Amino acid sequence: MSKIDIFRRYGLFDARVPRYTSYPPANHFQEGEGLKHQNDWLQSVPDGSDVSVYIHIPFCKRLCWFCACRTQGTKTMRPVDAYVDILRKEITGVRATLAPGIKMSRLHLGGGTPTILSAQTMSTLLREVFDAFEPAENFEFSVEIDPTEAEKPLLQTLIDFGLNRASLGVQDFAPEVQAAIGREQSLEQTETVIDFLRSNGVSSLNLDVLYGLPHQTLESFSETLSHVIALQPDRLAIYGYAHVPWMSKRQVMIREEHLPDPMARFALAEFAEKMFTENGYEPVGIDHFAKPGDSLALASKEGRLHRNFQGYTDDQSPTLLGFGASAISKFAQGYAQNAPATFAYQERINATGFASFKGFEMCTDDALMARVIEDLMCRFTFDEKTLCQAFPDHREAIRAMAVSLMQKFSDVFFISGEGLKLKPEAYPLVRVVAGYVDSRTSKKTAHSSAI
Ligand SMILES: C[S@@+](CC[C@H](N)C(=O)[O-])C[C@H]1O[C@@H](n2cnc3c(N)ncnc32)[C@H](O)[C@@H]1O
Ligand code: SF4
Repeated sequence: MSKIDIFRRYGLFDARVPRYTSYPPANHFQEGEGLKHQNDWLQSVPDGSDVSVYIHIPFCKRLCWFCACRTQGTKTMRPVDAYVDILRKEITGVRATLAPGIKMSRLHLGGGTPTILSAQTMSTLLREVFDAFEPAENFEFSVEIDPTEAEKPLLQTLIDFGLNRASLGVQDFAPEVQAAIGREQSLEQTETVIDFLRSNGVSSLNLDVLYGLPHQTLESFSETLSHVIALQPDRLAIYGYAHVPWMSKRQVMIREEHLPDPMARFALAEFAEKMFTENGYEPVGIDHFAKPGDSLALASKEGRLHRNFQGYTDDQSPTLLGFGASAISKFAQGYAQNAPATFAYQERINATGFASFKGFEMCTDDALMARVIEDLMCRFTFDEKTLCQAFPDHREAIRAMAVSLMQKFSDVFFISGEGLKLKPEAYPLVRVVAGYVDSRTSKKTAHSSAI
């Protein structure tokens, strides 16, 4: 059977499955669960441990039609500045609840567009963050940058506070594709931001590229990828465009008849992988690439890769504190998500100092499933031996999962040591496999395409 036949047999071209940036996916979070537990979970973070900090900035000057991120358009800075005031309150409230010796291993600003802030507002926010959290050893500070919305004083402020990683959105450089997704961005704008960052010591750069966009052809994509490779980022994220207009209303602007079909999407993804690997990048998980010496590539090779809401990470911290509207915190006990609407978020902080509403408390069954899915997504393995060591009371369930996986996916798994491994050529199927073992995810829920 050819590779394509195998993919077809297992439903790769039809399946709609979660991206598994968390287990369970955020659509399983329950109302009130975050609110109920946030205080206790914050208090139980061990003193002396490190936490990762994520700050969500849900504002953009332009709203690109393809974008599924939680953000809102604004022409003025007034709502942004008011939002940052509330963020500062949230940081103060959360910090006061945590044990005193907790340090920050990572700080990530995401959005939306964090670089929409004025240099002065950014400086005020970052002073608050660094006053609240002392950086741990090997601290990393990263930010998501829209290269068309990144003025030099703002970038300089980030650099002055120790920025050492940046992720720039590219998506596609072809004018016809950019027009169809409502996002114009020249190669020159992107180069200018990269040159500024590099000349000021921020050498670790990631670029985001999308396949599956309207009007993309192998020819046009090859040109985009050549530009991307010439920019020599350390890391690349290549995501399949998720067309989910029922969740992200602005996507109705994208004409479905101009989207590549699943087979064409697959060809684009395969083509990108070939170009990146031929140009010295190593695959990391299902949708990242990195230069061989990069810490993400090393984590992947050494089996230390993790998955979080930004995709793949080498961050080993078990606690993630999310600040801002819709931000998700992860604790050993479960997840707590802030109110998603900016107004509701601000009201909650003003009323109680905390903003969590939805959430999910993990039982041991959930923790086992989370581990199984992370192992699959990050290492393409189902390692029965280490799973049984970590969950000794679940030996029977683990055995049953191994048998079921081997029966269902006999063409694509092989036995390795005391576990199962996915064959490298079958890696694109990993979300389908994860969706199969995931007992919680409804097969009826509308997720994005598996390819
Ligand atoms: C928060 S967004 C963008 C950051 C920044 N505002 C920018 O415009 O470059 C981060 C990334 O999410 C990805 N993304 C957004 N919408 C997507 C969608 N519908 N499908 C797949 N990836 C998407 C894009 O690659 C984007 O660069
Ligand atoms: S891609 Fe970036 S700039 Fe465009 S709407 Fe999304 S977050 Fe905003």
